[in-house]
Amino acid sequence: MNKVFKVGLIGCGHIAETYFRAHKYFNNFKIIKCADILDSASKKCALKYGIENLTVNEILKDKEIEIILNLTIPKAHYEVAKKALLHNKHVYSEKPMAINLKDGKELLKIAKKRKLYIGNAPDTFLGGGNQKSKELLEKNVIGKIKLGNAIFAFPGVQSYHPSPEPWFAKKEGGPVIDMGPYYLTALVNLLGPAKEVSGSLMRGVKKRVIGIGPNKGKKFKVHCPTTYLSTIVFENKTIIRLTLSFDVIAHQRNHIEFYGKNGSMIVPDPNMFGGSVYICNKLGQPWKEHKTGKMSLGKINIRTKSLRANESPINANYRGAGLAEMAYCIEKRKKHRCSGELSLHVLDIIQSTMRASKTGKKQKITTTCKIPKRFIEKDIKKILN
Ligand SMILES: NC(=O)c1ccc[n+]([C@@H]2O[C@H](COP(=O)([O-])OP(=O)(O)OC[C@H]3O[C@@H](n4cnc5c(N)ncnc54)[C@H](O)[C@@H]3O)[C@@H](O)[C@H]2O)c1
Repeated sequence: MNKVFKVGLIGCGHIAETYFRAHKYFNNFKIIKCADILDSASKKCALKYGIENLTVNEILKDKEIEIILNLTIPKAHYEVAKKALLHNKHVYSEKPMAINLKDGKELLKIAKKRKLYIGNAPDTFLGGGNQKSKELLEKNVIGKIKLGNAIFAFPGVQSYHPSPEPWFAKKEGGPVIDMGPYYLTALVNLLGPAKEVSGSLMRGVKKRVIGIGPNKGKKFKVHCPTTYLSTIVFENKTIIRLTLSFDVIAHQRNHIEFYGKNGSMIVPDPNMFGGSVYICNKLGQPWKEHKTGKMSLGKINIRTKSLRANESPINANYRGAGLAEMAYCIEKRKKHRCSGELSLHVLDIIQSTMRASKTGKKQKITTTCKIPKRFIEKDIKKILN
């Protein structure tokens, strides 16, 4: 039996319910108390889930809490994670780790010094889709990867998020900070660290309209570029073209494509846990499908239709897996997969992509990280109910 870690949640917004649902799947953490800068938000959350409502200061000082789950907005991730570490709590934050590299480095330094774990979403790369791709790449089914491309593009969160303004803010807004973590983490998990990036950008419409919630119909200003086109060179020499945009009405290719010496691979949407991997080894031959629906973190688990972009009855969603895996590693004193080093490297690529696109100058990636080990079924089963 695993130890069940007592988790204190800070940031009781939109995504919090996904982590409460994770109690159903994982056996080693329990969110027992919550707090928010808005007392009304944490009160509502405490009432809904039958847990204790505290202030942010109280939860940080609470002796029972072992891990702080930081589900605040990106701009607040650094400040909240830092406070958690300084109060000797392990911390697991939603993506991105921080909104600039300097802050991310400081968090890692504090965690190291205090021998605390720091973990970060996204954990979707632990899911069946990315892990099946990794298994096939380890079997060398398409040979050495030379090139690849990926695109995430949609009209923006304003249609389904009741408070979308932070996604369009000057410093922390835009699609690279928001969606980049999914694509870049998946790419680093499969290809290894990146070494250089170049890019260009586009500014979309200047004002957007909130599509849901109490402020439905309200117009707000866009303060950041909303489309980035980048070229990333990895340490293993693979070149990936990555487009991230909030200015596209629809497209049909949220997946990643790799082009190798002996074939091509389609890696399913990295914002999801499941999805089939496809391989084609010869032009004109049919693509071979590798299903993930029988894998522990690939099985469909949500049947109801949801308004949320990352939840649908055709895709597995096991958000919280990274937190559970980190808790397991704390107990066993092992290296966790959704690690601070990995998220710091991803943050470096994010910041470098934005800078390269803004200045028109290639940027060197100054950090690196170890590629997480494949998350095999035997290990996944240890944290599942
Ligand atoms: N909404 C999604 O579908 C989704 C999916 C995956 C990841 N995420 C990530 O999860 C995080 C939260 O997203 P969300 O959609 O739940 O946002 P949200 O705006 O709905 O909720 C954030 C909550 O954090 C609180 N907060 C802000 N600053 C704080 C601070 N300094 N101290 C304490 N509380 C603070 C806010 O009051 C709010 O209740 C973001 O990093 C986002 O990128 C969201």
